[in-house]
Amino acid sequence: MLANKTVILGITGSLAAYKAADIASKLTQAGARVEVVMTESATKFITPLTLRSITSRPVVTDMFELASEFSIEHVALAEAADVVVIAPATACVMAKLAAGISDDELTCTVLATEAPVIVAPAMHASMFQNSVTQQNLAKLKARGFTIVGPEYGRLASGKVGLGRLAETDKIIDTIGQVLSQGRDLTSKRIVVTAGGTQEPIDPVRHIGNRSSGKMGYALAEAARNRGAEVKLITAPTSLPEPVGTEVVSVKTAAEMKEAVARAVIQADALIMAAAVADYQPKSVAEAKIKKETPTLTLELIRTPDILTEVKGNFLKVGFAAESQNIVANAKQKLERKQLDLIVANDITDPSSGFGADTNKVTLIDKQGNVEDLPLLTKREVADRILDRVVSLLAKR
Ligand code: PMT
Repeated sequence: MLANKTVILGITGSLAAYKAADIASKLTQAGARVEVVMTESATKFITPLTLRSITSRPVVTDMFELASEFSIEHVALAEAADVVVIAPATACVMAKLAAGISDDELTCTVLATEAPVIVAPAMHASMFQNSVTQQNLAKLKARGFTIVGPEYGRLASGKVGLGRLAETDKIIDTIGQVLSQGRDLTSKRIVVTAGGTQEPIDPVRHIGNRSSGKMGYALAEAARNRGAEVKLITAPTSLPEPVGTEVVSVKTAAEMKEAVARAVIQADALIMAAAVADYQPKSVAEAKIKKETPTLTLELIRTPDILTEVKGNFLKVGFAAESQNIVANAKQKLERKQLDLIVANDITDPSSGFGADTNKVTLIDKQGNVEDLPLLTKREVADRILDRVVSLLAKR
């Protein structure tokens, strides 16, 4: 996604400027050509030499600097850009951009470029919340700029509030998202479920499973990058929310059922990667169960089968987590749950299924076509599933 792309990384005068080194490094490692443009005040926080060493490219700090590769034709940068990212962006630069002021290399570049612009604000919380900054932010959004962050946390002043620069991975993810907009799922609405539901036993205990959510999150991110409008319905995981998707957090199978029923109204496809508990305790103890007896018997009842019960005119994709007779069992689920496509998931190998970063799956459609995929990363598996979703949607 980032390979061979020209990313203009604008750095402005915030204490968070040192984090731009990490952003530049990760972008460079991903194969992007990173052109750094620093405002004068940014150079007080981090040296151009650091950025030059990381990117192996000259760093632009002064539009009148004759030694600069871009000094005469600074608009060249704007034209070369596939994307412009300002991280960190101060309240000052946001105000200048909102007003169209172009008094340094960075603001000139933004004004001159036709590339998408991403702004990652970082400032004191009260400056961010000031109505002037909020108006400027609204103007930038209205101009189509993508805003990432800020996040809530400890600020340079030592106080805690909304003003921290978004995490590097979130910024990089947003760049990937912006660069890939307008692909084969544009204007499609995709609902993805992820993670393992938790069925409470008492206020502190639950029945759960080992789903990490990685497969579902990979699907949500891949669909988003292909232009889809993504709703991710997730049981508890430790994964960061994918930027640019609408995330609905649930705990139990019953909550997931309700969220799915709401989300599929107007959806084009539902992809159920979640490991939904098949059973839940018949009753939930109001207080913590005491360990007074040597054994404890829980009565379990079936959870709702979400895929079978959800109705509507959308494409239905299910998973089948199987440890034996994988294809035969998955085919039965495809028929029983009336799916368009099922992803038979071999969970016997530690490199596949629950918790792993890779997965080994077989895709089976309702015409009985079977496609056995090799061991791939979950992101690659997600794209292979979405390839099938795209072609199935085209036939509807
Ligand atoms: O989250 P990871 O760690 O990345 O692991 C990924 C995964 C192994 C969880 C995933 O790839 C996977 O196989 N998900 C489906 C797990 C599962 O519950 O399979 P199943 O065979 O029990 O269910 C079949 C299908 O019915 C699934 O799409 C499931 O979401 C759905 N289902 C199941 C039970 C239920 N009550 N309602 C459902 O809708």
